[in-house]
Parts: sequence; structure tokens; C-alpha cells
Amino acid sequence: MRKETGLILALDVIDKQDAIKITEEVSNHFDAIKVNFPLVLSSGLDVMAQLAEFKPVIADFKIADIPYTSSIISQLAFKAGASAVIVHGFTGSDTVSAVIDSGKPFKGEVYVVSELSSKGGKEYFPAVADKIVEMAMDLGCNGIIAPATRVERIAHYRKMSEELTIIAPGIGAQGGKIEEAVKAGADFIILGRSIYRSADPQGAAKDNVDRIKQVLKNE
Ligand code: XMP
Repeated sequence: MRKETGLILALDVIDKQDAIKITEEVSNHFDAIKVNFPLVLSSGLDVMAQLAEFKPVIADFKIADIPYTSSIISQLAFKAGASAVIVHGFTGSDTVSAVIDSGKPFKGEVYVVSELSSKGGKEYFPAVADKIVEMAMDLGCNGIIAPATRVERIAHYRKMSEELTIIAPGIGAQGGKIEEAVKAGADFIILGRSIYRSADPQGAAKDNVDRIKQVLKNE
């Protein structure tokens, strides 16, 4: 994924027109648009092609099935216009490999969830998260998703590899702070509600771009 602002828009609205309107308004501040089940289940898969006219689309279907089913899901996402998919790493290397292989004809990127940013993400993931990240790197995934709600985890993954692309959700509504996530080593920050629920989405997006720039300038 090409980095300019370092921001990814999480478009979890359930109305296609709202999704397009917000994208038209703020997409110049974002490197990619992440869609999840709320938008696709309410609007249909073809919304991804429409959004891809603005910025590359990441299909955040958190794929977590056997290799055969997972590869069908990711192929459908790439065919529908996604440039990247997100897969759960706890599924194991066979599923993650199948998803990577399914993306090859599309030059599709694959990002692996290391541990969820939610409170429940602390219940079971710690036992396996490091192994998931090692597996993602061994298989040549494009990067991992790591929690901005626990920036020490981002710093830990950054220590594991300087080259690893780290995408961090959990800013704003979930409590994470953008400056801390960037300082810890996140390459891209996912922003959802703090943008599309803002009274001034443009202003909110620009503010976050400036905050990232400020941190990078001081490093
Ligand atoms: P908000 O509104 O909280 O939206 O800014 C966050 C977006 O990111 C997704 N999300 C995650 N995705 N691992 C992921 O792969 C995570 O730990 C995680 N936490 C949040 C969420 O689904 C929403 O689209």
C-alpha cells in the first residue's frame, strides 16, 4: 500500500450513498478505504468498485475459515475491486497461505490480524499473537493489524521487525491516541467513527494528518 498520509478510512456506515458522500468529502486525506461487513452486507459487494475509484479498497472481512472457503472469500473480494484483504492469523498457516495464493492473480495484498484491539482481544490472543506475527512474516504477508489500544504491543511488533508494515485500529472511539500509536511504530492508522460521525469529517481528517506529520517531524 502506498503511503502518503498514513491514514486508512474505516467506512462502517450502512448506507451506500452515505459511504460515497463521506468518501468524496475526505478521501484526499486517506491512503486507503477499509470496508467491513456492515457496508457490504447492507449495500452489496459492488460498493467496493465504486469506492476503488477514489482510493484502494481493503476488504476487512477478517477471513477465518478453512483454506478452501477462505480462498473463495478473498477471490470474490479481489474480483469485486479490493486491493487488499484482512485474514485472521489464528486460522493457521494453511488458511493464510491459501488467501495469499488467491490474491496473486490480482496482485492483491494480504494483512493478518495479530490480536484484536478490543478488551476481549486480551483474553486469548496473548498466547498466540507473537507466533501469528512470525507466521505472517514467514509467509510474506504484506503486514499485520495491531491494536492502537495497547501501543506496547505495536512497539513489541516493531522490535520484532523494522520492515513489517503495521496497521493500527483503535484510535478515537476505542480510546487509542494517534500520536502514541505512530511513536510506537505504526505505519498506518485506521480511523472510522472519529471521521464519519464527526460534524466536520474534513476537519477531523486533516487534524489527524497534521498530528501524524507532527510526530514524524519530531522523531
Ligand atoms: P473505529 O470506528 O473504532 O473503527 O475507528 C475501527 C475499524 O477497525 C476495525 N478494527 C479492527 N480490525 N483488528 C482488525 O483487523 C482489530 O483489532 C480491529 N479493531 C478495530 C473495526 O472493525 C472498524 O472497522
